[in-house]
Amino acid sequence: MGENEKKQVIFSGIQPSGTLTLGNYIGALRNFVKLQDDYDCIYCIVDEHAITVRQNPADLRRRCLELAAIYIASGLDPKKNLIYCQSHVSGHAELAWILNCFTYMGELSRMTQFKAKSAAHADNINAGLFTYPVLMAADILLYQTNLVPVGVDQKQHLELCRDIAQRFNAVYGDVFTIPEGYIPKIGAKIMSLQEPEKKMSKSDPEDTYIALLDDPDTIRRKIRRAVTDSDGEIRFDPENKPGVSNLLAIMSALGAGDVETIAADMQGKGYGELKNRTTEVVIEALSPLQAEFKRLIADKAYLQSVIDENAKTANALALRTLRKVQKKVGFAPRG
Ligand code: TYM
Repeated sequence: MGENEKKQVIFSGIQPSGTLTLGNYIGALRNFVKLQDDYDCIYCIVDEHAITVRQNPADLRRRCLELAAIYIASGLDPKKNLIYCQSHVSGHAELAWILNCFTYMGELSRMTQFKAKSAAHADNINAGLFTYPVLMAADILLYQTNLVPVGVDQKQHLELCRDIAQRFNAVYGDVFTIPEGYIPKIGAKIMSLQEPEKKMSKSDPEDTYIALLDDPDTIRRKIRRAVTDSDGEIRFDPENKPGVSNLLAIMSALGAGDVETIAADMQGKGYGELKNRTTEVVIEALSPLQAEFKRLIADKAYLQSVIDENAKTANALALRTLRKVQKKVGFAPRG
């Protein structure tokens, strides 16, 4: 790409709705960091998505700044990447409303995440939970995004986003860039340590996931207790050996080599050794992030200034698309 050529745009987001896990780090954050030099990147703290499930206001407020600190502590440069809160740029919600009118109930009812979340929160199946993917589409389309780095659990939402954009473009001309997903080959779905057939998730019990801010002893204990299998062979085979394969995938995604090589290196070793090595790799990957997080979270004024400044820039970008869309659908011009 030439010096003066405009870089392509990346957009992605993480919910500030609980402890971030190693799954969030490997499936998303780590790739955000890798991609930051080659793209114009927008990494959002999606607080509007978070309230589709009831949140304690004080906790949500605190977690938004914590997530800003985690983004920066992972290696994202806030001068090069837009790090801000979704609720600070009103274009997200405004575009979402318009896109709601271009999305079908049938499409939304087919979303597996909606089905899972409404089963988990049967007492609060709100309309926001249902239209969640439309807000996500608005996030992405608002910035004419080319690439969306996510874990595999977001693939269906991304496909819906593309369908909505194509539908809108078919009516009004080329308004939206059609985004592509960036889903890593290894690590797109880090599994639960206790039920390795299931995704690692922050809404499950503590011993099933590694939190980004877990201390070394906790990490060691959780990995030591991770469920494996009984045949004793170290081999990458997610279908038949989900627990062992998950540990290999974690190591590989954190830079320890490809899964086959790691497995070959460990031939003849026991699962105890596999767990020890995984533990070392995880602690080594998370320690610098944790130290930097500790330093950053002590400086709330700095974090606040980052999200304030970046929201202004994001808002200006968002308005370009929003005004165009409003005009296309026929809203009266502003004087
Ligand atoms: P969220 O907050 O649930 O998760 C953030 C990111 O982490 C990935 N992820 C995983 N990757 C691998 N293994 C796992 N076990 C694992 N768990 C989570 C997710 O795939 C995601 O990339 N709807 C989104 C947030 C969002 C968004 C967007 C993303 C809102 N708007 C626009 C991209 C573009 C979500 O709930 O992610």
